[in-house]
Amino acid sequence: MKKVTAAITSLHGYVPEKVLSNADLEKMVDTNDEWITTRTGIKERRIVSDGQAASDLGAEVVKGICQKRGISPEEIDVVVVGTITSDYKFPSAGNLICEKSGAINAWGFDLAAACSGFIYALTTGAQFIESGRHQKVIVIGVDIMSTIVDYTDRATCIIFGDGAGGVLLEPNSDGEGVIDYIMKNDATGKDHLIQKVGGSAEPITIDNIQENRHFIFQDGRPVFKHAVTKMADVSAEIMENNDLSSEDVAWLVPHQANLRIIDATSNRMGLTNDKVMINIEKYGNTTAATIPLCLWEWEEKLKKGDNIVLAAFGGGFTWGSMYIKWAYNS
Ligand code: UT7
Repeated sequence: MKKVTAAITSLHGYVPEKVLSNADLEKMVDTNDEWITTRTGIKERRIVSDGQAASDLGAEVVKGICQKRGISPEEIDVVVVGTITSDYKFPSAGNLICEKSGAINAWGFDLAAACSGFIYALTTGAQFIESGRHQKVIVIGVDIMSTIVDYTDRATCIIFGDGAGGVLLEPNSDGEGVIDYIMKNDATGKDHLIQKVGGSAEPITIDNIQENRHFIFQDGRPVFKHAVTKMADVSAEIMENNDLSSEDVAWLVPHQANLRIIDATSNRMGLTNDKVMINIEKYGNTTAATIPLCLWEWEEKLKKGDNIVLAAFGGGFTWGSMYIKWAYNS
């Protein structure tokens, strides 16, 4: 009997309309377009307005995925959401997205792995298909980073943006879909990138809010140092484990945190730039949403049988890579 794999059969992305450009940031903090562009590759990001929360963006993704696949949201079995900016502590965005999108027969939940949220969620979602337990699983990466960014911290606020993207997973017996993955974490990195307040370790108080401890804290240099090596290493490792040469890889879909980290990863894999999905200049770092937003923008270029490597590194530290064989032509 052929092994059942979890193939991506539809996908969609959603970004808010409001643009926050480098010129806008120049008016908010002591920075400039030249510094941001050369240090990160980012030109602008999207920011929510009118109280849009993670579940609002996620619901748009579910609706778009179902419409493109020609199915009703009522056919979805599970919604797995990678996010660190869920609407509430509880209920989860996954729970809310099921209701808002009309996926009323699905159960949903969130999973927190910061910038690795989408690949952690995709790995998890694939298990439901491979086990034979579920037939239609939606995996979403969504983050509303503007709600936890300190817009007085120039070293951090310039990289983040808001967005959502997701994919539909269905069973496949032709060897397409999620073929392999390597997921890692190392919590000794937690002090370099963390939202300190709001959880059980440091509940919210007036004092810690006044000290801005409820915003993201990022010590950029050590994070950068670890990201550059670990994202590149894990991408090379998945190629090696699956006997993939740089010619065999059609696309690298890297987390979009910093163009210099992306370049280090693609160089290590021996890939030319035309095989690397990069949209950081338009959306910045949308945390769990960067990888599905790339897939969404590149969907028409993807061909059945393409070997695709996803790679991410983020807070935790968390990092990993996935090898996917693309299952459809659009
Ligand atoms: O999403 C996953 C996790 N996150 C990441 O992967 C992010 C990893 N880190 C980075 O991408 C980079 O560390 C940053 C983009 C966040 C910062 O870039 P950097 O090259 O590491 O800058 P730095 O923090 O080392 O600062 C270099 C200089 C400093 O000035 P001095 O001390 O050399 O005079 C900063 O004060 O640049 C200054 N600086 C700025 N200047 C203008 C820091 N932020 C800014 C700014 N505009 N926005």
